[in-house]
This record gives sequence, C-alpha cells and structure tokens, in this order.
Amino acid sequence: MPSWPMNQWYVAAYSSEITHELFGRTICDEPLVFYRTSEGEVVALADRCVHRRYPLSRSHLVDDQVVCGYHGFTYDQRGACVAAPAQKRIPRTARIPTWEVREVDSLIWVWIGDQERADDALIPRAPWLDHPDHTTVRGMEPLKARYQLLVDNLLDLSHETYLHGGYIGTPEVAETPITTEVDDEADVVYVSRHMDDAACPPFYAKSTGIQGRITRWQDIEYHPPCLYLLHSRIAPVGVLPPAEGPDDQAFHVEVVYAITPETEHSTHDFWMVARDFALDDEEVSAFLAENNRTVVLQDVEALDVLEVVVEGEKDRYQELSINIDAGGLAARRILERQVEAGRAEAAAGTPAPAGAST
Ligand code: FES
Ligand SMILES: [Fe+2]
Repeated sequence: MPSWPMNQWYVAAYSSEITHELFGRTICDEPLVFYRTSEGEVVALADRCVHRRYPLSRSHLVDDQVVCGYHGFTYDQRGACVAAPAQKRIPRTARIPTWEVREVDSLIWVWIGDQERADDALIPRAPWLDHPDHTTVRGMEPLKARYQLLVDNLLDLSHETYLHGGYIGTPEVAETPITTEVDDEADVVYVSRHMDDAACPPFYAKSTGIQGRITRWQDIEYHPPCLYLLHSRIAPVGVLPPAEGPDDQAFHVEVVYAITPETEHSTHDFWMVARDFALDDEEVSAFLAENNRTVVLQDVEALDVLEVVVEGEKDRYQELSINIDAGGLAARRILERQVEAGRAEAAAGTPAPAGAST
C-alpha cells in the first residue's frame, strides 16, 4: 500500500513542460508519459508499451499518435492500439491505461487512483500563477526523500532562521510564535506567523527595495496532499492592511509548492514565486529565481540526509514535538485520514489497479 493518499489530484508538471513531444515522469510510482495534442489537449498514458514494456517516453509522435520506439505499436490518445507491425488484426487487449489530467493555473494535475472518481471541483487553486497582475518564477528540484519530510519542512518555517540564514531567514522567524487552524471539512491547514518588527532578509530587501525593518507576515495554507501556499506580506514597520480598499502599501509574494511523490523515497519538489510588484523587471525575476532555487536546494540537501537517517532507523526512533510543530502534526493527521479513505475506497471495490483506467 502506498504511503500517499489515493484518489487525489497531484501536480505532474508545469504547463510549459508539456508540448507536442513525449514527456516521461513518474508520479506516485506510476511511470506516465504526457504530451499535448495538436488541439492543445494534454494526454497522460502509461509509459509502458503493451508489447514488451518499452517506455513510450522514448518513442515519438506521429500527428497525435504515439509510435513505440521499439517495434512500432501505435496508440491513439485514448490509449487504444491502432496499428501493429506486420498484421492487420490488432488484439483487443492492445490498450494502455490513460489518466485523467487537467490544466489549471499553469499546472498539469493528474488524478491518482480510481479514474472514475476524478472530480474537477477537488483541484486546489493557485490563481496567481497564471494571472496578469503577478509575475511568477518557478522550478522543480528532485528530492531523494519521502514526500512527508517536505510536508514537515514547509509547515514549520522556523527552520528558515537556521537553514536559510542570509537568504530568507532572520532571528524573528524562529522567535515568533505561530497560530494554527485546521479546517477538517475542507482538509486545509492554516499556519500564521506575523512578525511586527523584523529584520528584512536579503530575499525581500533586494527584490522590493524596502529599507529598514519590516512588518513580515507568513500565512500558510496547505491543501493536503499536494498544494502548499505561503502568502507572504512585506511592508514597512507599522503599515497594516487598510480596513477597506487595496493593500497597496505592502508587497505580496505568493510562494507555492507542489509536493508530488515520485516513489516512496523520492519527491518532485515544484516551487513557484509569484509577486505583485516589479512585474516587468527581469533583474528582480532573475534574483528571485536564483535565490529561491538556492533556498530550495538547501532544503533538498537537508532532507536527502534526513531520508537516509529516517530510513535507516525505521521504527526505532522517537520524535519530540513542540509548539512550532502544530501545523506539521495537523497536516500529518489529515494525510493519514486521506490515506485511510483512499484504502477504504479501494477495498470497497474499485475495479482498476492503482491509477489505471482503460
Ligand atoms: S515494445 Fe513497443 S512495440 Fe514492442
Ligand atoms: Fe526551507
């Protein structure tokens, strides 16, 4: 049984990654191949030919059909084999599974689980990523650690002070208590840390041009399992949002992560930084992209090490949690509940194997 929730949407790729070329990526232990048809529609198929299991991502497209690079079995976008070498009759079982995919907010979401259950209303939103009032920089770093370690990491930002000093960390992050709220109906965890009088870390000082100390708000909104939003508000000390009207004396940065398991011990760490200032300033874009990537790589390095430690200790270790862990513990509880729900649904008679429909 997988450790991630089934019957959920996961981010598989950025819109810009999926073109009229075959693109392979493993999502939740499923090797998938993606492409965009000439009509612009995104297709997700199993990345395995039915004939001898050759990865279709190593094949090529002819029009909108996938021609296996080994012996030429040809599949349409619904996974049906439409041509095989040296014979007219195509076996009825010559069909590869397809996955439900949606393109929303410049993200490609794939439904992992019973494909009949795919529900568009369950896709969490991050509208800034694809909105003219914001400019976004983004990347993806491969993480050799289980996805739960990235969830823990992102839900407790007190680590910024220690792991990301000189970038986004200042003493106030670790010193300021958090408030945590959980919406058990909608499965959302909120963690807030409002710093009234804080040093401005280089990440924000250089990108906004703000000088001196700041009011710095971090409002996390985690939609388990995949989407993590950090609403970051930066303003001169004492400048609070007005009772009415736009909050235009502050800078807003929407930091978004998509946490997508690749396997039980590896994760796709998608990161995005959307801002509502200096929209056309390419220097600011380059600075934020480079700095955020550095910060993400600091986390990746730490979590890669932690994975080896945790895996090596198996069930023998005991953790100790304190107040700063309230958000991470709430996230774990929701994830456990989601994992259980997915298992119960599967036990109740889902006919298809994990992730597959034909
Ligand atoms: S493995 Fe694909 S056609 Fe033989
Ligand atoms: Fe971090």
